[in-house]
Amino acid sequence: MKTLLKLSTLAALLAAGAAHAQSTAPIKVGLMLPYTGTYAALGNAIENGFKLYVQEQGGKLGGREIQYVKVDDESDPSKATDNVNKLIKRDNVDVLVGTVHSGVALGMAKAARENNTLLIIPNAGAGDITGPMCAPNIVRSSFSNWQPAYAMGVVAGQRGVKRAMTITHNYAAGTETTKGFTEGLEKSGGKVIKELYLPFPNVEFQALLTEIAAQKPDAVYAFFAGGSAVKFVKDYAAAGLNKTIPLYGPGFLTDGTLEAQGAAAQGLLTALHYADNLDTPRNNAFRKNYALAYKANADVYAVQGYDAAQLLGVGLAAAKGDIAKRDVVANAMRGATVDSPRGKFTLSKAGNPVQDIYLREAKGVNNEFKSIAVKALADPARGCKL
Ligand code: PHB
Repeated sequence: MKTLLKLSTLAALLAAGAAHAQSTAPIKVGLMLPYTGTYAALGNAIENGFKLYVQEQGGKLGGREIQYVKVDDESDPSKATDNVNKLIKRDNVDVLVGTVHSGVALGMAKAARENNTLLIIPNAGAGDITGPMCAPNIVRSSFSNWQPAYAMGVVAGQRGVKRAMTITHNYAAGTETTKGFTEGLEKSGGKVIKELYLPFPNVEFQALLTEIAAQKPDAVYAFFAGGSAVKFVKDYAAAGLNKTIPLYGPGFLTDGTLEAQGAAAQGLLTALHYADNLDTPRNNAFRKNYALAYKANADVYAVQGYDAAQLLGVGLAAAKGDIAKRDVVANAMRGATVDSPRGKFTLSKAGNPVQDIYLREAKGVNNEFKSIAVKALADPARGCKL
């Protein structure tokens, strides 16, 4: 009897110790982002934004220290499953944050569903993730590919565009942005006469620019980001097309790229859920702190990283730091109103931001707010059964 008692006391002590360790050990955040290639700058800005928010909270979310494990996903979908499994199974991360490229994010979402791992997507807009693949443990702090594309289409039609051409990389984000733009344009009286594609991350635009010149559409809608956006906007201007055929795009075309694009980008109109000069205390403080911390201007990717950390913070606070309470964390994130530098947003049932999409104009190194293109725009979340 005595021995039994002792054993049970020991077991209780061990259990208490384990619970204590659980509640004080750092939360492991797996950052799976592109740190090389076309989207490298985007990945870095997301990481910077995420870490800025955590630093502003004294390095803790929900009372827990945050520890990072990083993987460079290279924006390569063929490596996505291996990369995400390393984070889930080898590194035992508590939460995944990633990524930029829709094709890679689809692989992450599949693994997150299979392992019931929390996944916060700080960019990639793949419609399927908040459509047929939607799941309680998956949320976005960014956008769906449809959202800015649809808004740009609506505005282009309002501006008198009847015949448009589209050009982008041939992968999920490219085809989805093209569809969204077409839907918005048709709604406001125009149509897309031809879709042009080139493989990701190929940037040999010349033959396609020649085709645009020959077709003489009223406008071109282009989705490129990072390194591809810099080259495309410069090549479009070098071909003289900017003088005769207005170029529109989702704001990725000019976000984080204006310095490198120089004169070629000035005056471009784009649609996005962020504008650099939103004159709110929230945005001004964010931009100031970001510039101080990183000696660089914040862009939409930095905002999305920052807000991914805000979402995690809301979830962890609700669970009092106990990330094992997956349902509590996930429900709190879905119920959150995020006080973002972009303006406040909520999440849809599918886990995607419901947000204003702004029309912006490139001026100097800023994408300046012009008007609200579409207010409180929710992704249709076609196929999501939540
Ligand atoms: C995507 O692949 O979903 C993607 C990549 C870069 C962007 C936006 C979307 O800027």
